[in-house]
Amino acid sequence: MIAIDGPAGAGKSTVARLVAKETHLPYLDTGAMYRCVALQALNDNVDPHNQAAVARIASEISIVLEGSATFLNDVDVSNDIRTPEVAAVVSVIAALTPVRDAMRTQQREWIARHGGGVVEGRDIGTVVFPDADVKVFLTASPEERARRRVAQAGGNIDEVAAGISERDHIDSTREDSPLRPAENSVIVDSSGKSIDEVVAEIVNAFEVTRR
Ligand code: DC
Repeated sequence: MIAIDGPAGAGKSTVARLVAKETHLPYLDTGAMYRCVALQALNDNVDPHNQAAVARIASEISIVLEGSATFLNDVDVSNDIRTPEVAAVVSVIAALTPVRDAMRTQQREWIARHGGGVVEGRDIGTVVFPDADVKVFLTASPEERARRRVAQAGGNIDEVAAGISERDHIDSTREDSPLRPAENSVIVDSSGKSIDEVVAEIVNAFEVTRR
């Protein structure tokens, strides 16, 4: 079991998918789960700050993650959860404790069912699976993270940088499981490193635990 946490734009998804491929472990993107709750709240015109209403959504919707596809109530929302509208509200929703409790329960069930995996998020090494074989905190400079997001999804660099820094602020200052490196985590700064280098570093750290 490999836990990969870190801020937006650090390259977690790309790296986690490749690590999963190399280690032949299944891959779980927990951010996609919070994005499903956000998408459903938007679709239902629910105020993201309305804890009771958002909590109800989190407990009622069905989220299924298969490979890199995400299904919300049996509909493939893999693209719909990546819109700027979802990005704008997801941090607020992810700060709500009842939402986090519901998502963590499902994450633990997913791992139990799959017998392990490469799991990426913000609180995987700190709270969800503190006993993971390898805990990675993957980060990069704010400028590099904004540049990567623009290269991937387009947009204005200043607006993207402002959005990322606002999300980081909400994610790392919330009361419930703020984003921070787990105890005994390997801190990997991906600024100026190739994807392959970062993947190799994490795969090596995992292989050492298997010996
Ligand atoms: O990794 P991402 O950008 O898809 O994450 C979307 C949001 O969900 C982001 O604001 C952080 C939050 N999140 C979280 O709080 N805990 C996780 N384990 C994963 C994501």
